[in-house]
Amino acid sequence: MAAASNKTKTTWFCKNCGYESPKWLGRCPSCGQWNTMAESTVVTGKATSAHGSFSAPGGFSVPGQTRTPRRLSEIDMGSEARISLCNKEVDRILGGGIVEGSLVLIGGEPGIGKSTLSLQIPLFCPSMKTLYVSGEESVRQVRMRAERLGGDSSNCFILSETCIEEILKHAQELAPELMVVDSVQTMYTQTVESTAGSVAQIRESAAILLRFAKETGIPVILIGHITKEGYIAGPKILEHIVDVVLQFEGEPRGAYRILRSIKNRFGSTSEIAVFEMTGTGLREVENPSEMLIPMHESGLSGTAIAAMLDGVRPFLFEVQALVSSAAYGTAQRSATGFDVRRLNMLLAVLEKRAGFKLGQKDVFLNMAGGLRITDTSCDLAVVASVLSSNFDFPIPPDVCFAGEVGLSGEIRPVGQTERRVAEAARLGFKRIYISSFTRLATQPASPTSGQSGPSETPLIDIVRVADIAALVRKLFK
Ligand code: TYD
Ligand code: MG
Repeated sequence: MAAASNKTKTTWFCKNCGYESPKWLGRCPSCGQWNTMAESTVVTGKATSAHGSFSAPGGFSVPGQTRTPRRLSEIDMGSEARISLCNKEVDRILGGGIVEGSLVLIGGEPGIGKSTLSLQIPLFCPSMKTLYVSGEESVRQVRMRAERLGGDSSNCFILSETCIEEILKHAQELAPELMVVDSVQTMYTQTVESTAGSVAQIRESAAILLRFAKETGIPVILIGHITKEGYIAGPKILEHIVDVVLQFEGEPRGAYRILRSIKNRFGSTSEIAVFEMTGTGLREVENPSEMLIPMHESGLSGTAIAAMLDGVRPFLFEVQALVSSAAYGTAQRSATGFDVRRLNMLLAVLEKRAGFKLGQKDVFLNMAGGLRITDTSCDLAVVASVLSSNFDFPIPPDVCFAGEVGLSGEIRPVGQTERRVAEAARLGFKRIYISSFTRLATQPASPTSGQSGPSETPLIDIVRVADIAALVRKLFK
């Protein structure tokens, strides 16, 4: 408990980005969100610690290491030891196994499979002594889940506990090779006087776990829930504390899940891993394009795949259009997940510059999966899907698009085309349409020949188009 010398103060934290303010604010000055400030009581000053150094914020000493400044060139480099988690996809996304002493955050919506994955890892890696701490489920519930998953549970220790200081005490005694903490929202530390799940608790708990990992060398996997309102009350706050952020995405009703690396201090963030949720846990999907194929087997017209970027993360998704004769005098235009004014502009360009008479047609546009797209780089996919529906001519399922459409019907280049091309190739696409004016830093393939580029990138044919007329010629002939 807090010592008498400690002071408590009331602070306001932004639930979206963790910004701290001494008073309530309607709008967070850091992230610009409205109504996100939440009150929290924080104990300041030197906290008494129940378990030695772990609970004291700051003031740590790493055993065997001095804290005096040293020349960078004198630091031993060969110490970044990685431990395989016996799961090919997770190992790959981490950059070749988990780094000793690292703190890895796995975020995702409730029910997406975070607990399943983090329990599956120790069960299928029995040579590794693991401590699995659950703050959400009883030990019996975890046992039942483990039975379902199969594997070998003889070297997996389970603890149902929510107090960080208690957890660290047990972890020090047990000395596991890996610790899993499920979830950060249920944990609390005695050094902060607010309820579990509050911004102050989440931040402090994670900071203590980070120091524990760094000091002992035990890698820690921390699980965090993401709220439905998109951005993350919790993990978002933690992004800059932890070493690695992996995000679990997917439709909870669908079978497929994508694990995406958002931040990785020890590897690249352009990796994704795909899993399928089965009756006996998560199966690694080695060829992710199988995820997109079922939607396209029937060869329907009116769908096109856009290669998008979400921040720095490339991803592919489906644009759907339906063009039909207007039932009433005036044509309807409706768009879900896309700006209807931009749709109108694209239709006007199609009419004026390429001669498609869409004035008397109803046009409905939908971004699959409930996505909301504001990026102009999916213009080309929108135009392709509208034309495909209009001609009732299906676009092959292994084709995707990345390009902006200008007012004179020209196809304009979009940013980071290389990443989009690489992601499309990785997902098994065979052809991508981009602007003729794109300059690729690394030329993965020649424009028309479909020859391979550098040997490590899978084959993808890059088709360059200068305007809508060229797109129509190349796509629908
Ligand atoms: P879970 O790992 O509990 O999600 P999270 O920890 O992210 O909240 O996964 C929950 C869902 O996964 C649940 O709806 C049931 C389903 N599931 C399976 O389909 N197969 C399985 O073998 C397991 C263990 C869970
Ligand atoms: Mg869970």
